[in-house]
Formats: sequence, structure tokens, C-alpha cells
Amino acid sequence: MRKKIVAGNWKMNTTLQEGIGLAKDVNEALKGAEPKCEVIICVPFTHLASVNEVIDANKLGLGAENCADHKSGAYTGEISAAMVASTGAKYVILGHSERRQYYGETSETLKEKVALAFENNLTPIFCIGEVLEERENGTFFEVVKAQIADALFHLSAEDFGKIILAYEPVWAIGTGKTATDDQAEEMHAFIRGVIADKYGKEVADNTSILYGGSCKPSNAAALFAKPDVDGGLIGGAALQAESFMGIVNAF
Ligand code: 13P
Repeated sequence: MRKKIVAGNWKMNTTLQEGIGLAKDVNEALKGAEPKCEVIICVPFTHLASVNEVIDANKLGLGAENCADHKSGAYTGEISAAMVASTGAKYVILGHSERRQYYGETSETLKEKVALAFENNLTPIFCIGEVLEERENGTFFEVVKAQIADALFHLSAEDFGKIILAYEPVWAIGTGKTATDDQAEEMHAFIRGVIADKYGKEVADNTSILYGGSCKPSNAAALFAKPDVDGGLIGGAALQAESFMGIVNAF
């Protein structure tokens, strides 16, 4: 059966020293704890190798927030999937709405990134989600379906089965406006249906679908209680060990 997961996305926050401190705090909080979900932190590239040194990989997974769409070569400033993997990281967030919106990521570039993540044994945490206008004009189901189909439906069932999905309605990210648990469940159940139509019920039932967007300790339990919400991808509330653990412990 699918895994329950709470993953932090630190985005462009914390200096290296602050990030090591935060990772240590989360690691410490997990010592002796028996969370009912897997716990992952996705941190800036500059922090990966150092954070890997201070966490217990059996208790806390480590991921990057992006990787390049090329293997290697003359791409100044880019970080390859192989480089990410060489730090000890096991996960990579791909297709976050901030990457799509501010850095022009398309399904075509994301296909390359997913392939390179797999080549380097990284598990993609693949983000999808509609913007406010699409929520309001009622196109949100088709938008999300297209994001999944265009970037992922060329994959074999085996490869698709390695992906973690994160539904993040863009209007709920960093706005304090959470999707209601019913809105989240409605979309998560829809996504699972889309996967079932393509790959069958077993693959769909085994795919973890996380919710992201203003998830915090006070609303996490209600979201996670929904049958198709398998955890969260957490931005702001992942920047303090106490609030992040409050969400982890909501399971
Ligand atoms: P917030 O939790 O800050 O809304 O961010 C969600 C997010 O984008 C996680 O990837």
C-alpha cells in the first residue's frame, strides 16, 4: 500500500549554517519518535552535502528542490541530478509551481528532469496544481490532468510507480489560504482516477499523493484524514522544527 509522507520544501530560505541547525533540530525531534509517516526535507543545493552529514538517513530522507534538464556540460550555474545524488540525497522536487511560473519550466523540460532523476536513483516529488484563475473558471481538473499526462504518461507503469505526486493549488501556496479538506480530497481522488485509467487500479492505489499549500499543524490532521490525501509538502511551516513536527505528528 502507498506510503504516508510529510516532506518539507525549504525553498530559498536559510543560510548554510541556519539550514544545518534546522536539519539537526528536525533530526533530534525524530530521535526516539515513531512517526506514522516517512519524513523528508528538501533543502537548497548548497546545503545538501552538509545536511546529509548531520541527519539519520533511517529516520529522515533528504532531497533537492530541483535539478537540471541536462546530464552535464556547459550549463553554467545548473546542478545535475548526478550531482544531487552524489551528496547522498534520495529525492528531488520537480515541477514546483514556482519553477513553472518564474523559470519557465514546461512538461518537455520536466520529462528530461524525470528521466535524469531516475537514471540517478532519485525519487521525484512531482508537483502539479492549478492557478487561481483556473480554479475560478472551473478548468482545474483538466489543467491538473494535462500536467500529469503531458510530463509523465510516457513512463512505464514501473517507472510511474516510483513517483511521489504533490498536488499544490497555486492559490494556496504561501497565501495562508488552504484548500479545504474536501477540495483537496476531491482533487486527490480525481488524480487517482486519472492514474487508474492509464495504469490500472493497483498503480493508482500505490501512488502517494501529497497536498501542499499553507499546510500547518492546525489544519494537517483534517487534510490527512481524507482517504486520498497521503501527506503533505510543506513550505513555510517546514522552516521551524516545532511546526514541521506538528504536521508530522498530525498522522
Ligand atoms: P506553503 O506551505 O508555504 O504554502 O508552501 C507550499 C509549497 O509550495 C511546498 O512546496
